[in-house]
Amino acid sequence: MLRRVNFYSICFAFALSVLLILAGSRYTDNTVYRPSSESRRNIKNFLKIEDGEDHLLPMPTNQYDGLADTERLLENTRNKIKTDLMNYNFTYSGVQKIEDLLMEHNGQPLRSLIISTWRSGTTFLGEVLNAMPGNFYHYEPLLNYEIIQIRGPPHAAKALSTIKNMLKCNYDDMEDYFKFGKGHVFQFSHNTRLWGHCKHKRELCLDSEFTGKFCKLFPFQSMKVVRLRLRLIEEILEDKELNVKVILLIRDPRGVMQSRQHRDFCQPAPDCWRPELLCADMISDYVAAARLLPKYPDRLTVLRYEELALNPNITSYKLLKFLGLSVTPSIEEFLHSHTNVESGGVSSTFRVSRDVPFKWKNVLDYNYVEEIQMLCKEAMDLWGYELAQNASQMASKEFNPLKSYVITQ
Ligand SMILES: *[C@@H]1O[C@H](CO)[C@@H](O)[C@H](O)[C@H]1NC(C)=O
Ligand SMILES: *[C@@H]1O[C@H](CO)[C@@H](O)[C@H](O)[C@H]1NC(C)=O
Ligand SMILES: *[C@@H]1O[C@H](CO)[C@@H](O)[C@H](O)[C@H]1NC(C)=O
Repeated sequence: MLRRVNFYSICFAFALSVLLILAGSRYTDNTVYRPSSESRRNIKNFLKIEDGEDHLLPMPTNQYDGLADTERLLENTRNKIKTDLMNYNFTYSGVQKIEDLLMEHNGQPLRSLIISTWRSGTTFLGEVLNAMPGNFYHYEPLLNYEIIQIRGPPHAAKALSTIKNMLKCNYDDMEDYFKFGKGHVFQFSHNTRLWGHCKHKRELCLDSEFTGKFCKLFPFQSMKVVRLRLRLIEEILEDKELNVKVILLIRDPRGVMQSRQHRDFCQPAPDCWRPELLCADMISDYVAAARLLPKYPDRLTVLRYEELALNPNITSYKLLKFLGLSVTPSIEEFLHSHTNVESGGVSSTFRVSRDVPFKWKNVLDYNYVEEIQMLCKEAMDLWGYELAQNASQMASKEFNPLKSYVITQ
């Protein structure tokens, strides 16, 4: 009798643990990932390009249950996105239901693209958009070009096709991108929803097939590009399949140059270090904006970083409306926690406050400001930035570097 009871209780305990394991694998997002044979093959191809030592790679393990693990991870993500957007009103985004925005249901995601240059406030804006649940943040796809501006040949065609492919979640033929990411994890880590998985298993981020499948689960997609000028973006605006919304983000060249002084990568690179090149790009962007805005009024918008920093809440609401995104509690929370700066207490790298955009007024030497203003007069006139006449005016509280501006052809 006693034995029989023991037998039943063991059976019961066994059944319970099986149930718990099943439940756990079903409902936790952090499923432990073991690479599938397929993704292994992928990584192998990638590494082959990397070092040509294919035969030295360790043999794949877990060849048989790997695929199931990837599928489970994708399924968990799919469910999590649905849960996170349970209360989201998709009418606001121009569709009836989430499936209309999902590539795996032949839907079209809402895509946004920030075009800017280094140290112009893209970090903050990128994080605002990424606070949206169900957003896949491509981050900066052109990191592997190092510190250059792409204004035309020889790099423009390939860079544009990279951007387009990524926005379509197609990561084939992207060896340069993956090779760079192998040594520079920040290429992936800003993509928080992808990184949540591959910080435990780096191979995932280097796996083009997995990345593509994962990307296709997301109804919202955002990207920032600081290495390509607006003129070239017309090709992307024209692409009906992409239906992308573009934000051109501009910043006062004095603020940009002040911020760039603190970046080691900048000084050796003329495109980053020379104000005349920055400002020539600002003029080029103005001309392109004047031409493209009337052509794509619903798809292109222009924003000065200073306006975002002075009025983060109102400006973000306006921008999100333009992008067809309803403000979610997570975005409200992000704006609240990253913009309510009273005094001191600046704790976050991307906290904006009223002072940040105008810090250059107090730290730059007037001689340098005068040099920038001389080289940038035309760009500053076009974009509505007031010149400082002398050192005392520059440092005074009354001096407002912002004026209004209009974009005309
Ligand atoms: C969603 O928003 C639309 C307007 O954008 C509104 O008419 C509709 O009632 C809303 N639906 C729900 C369920 O709140
Ligand atoms: C932010 O702006 C929106 C729209 O203008 C407004 O409804 C909301 O109350 C504002 N939030 C805060 C915290 O000021
Ligand atoms: C600096 O420029 C302002 C504005 O043009 C002017 O009013 C002021 O007299 C100038 N100060 C000096 C010391 O030149």
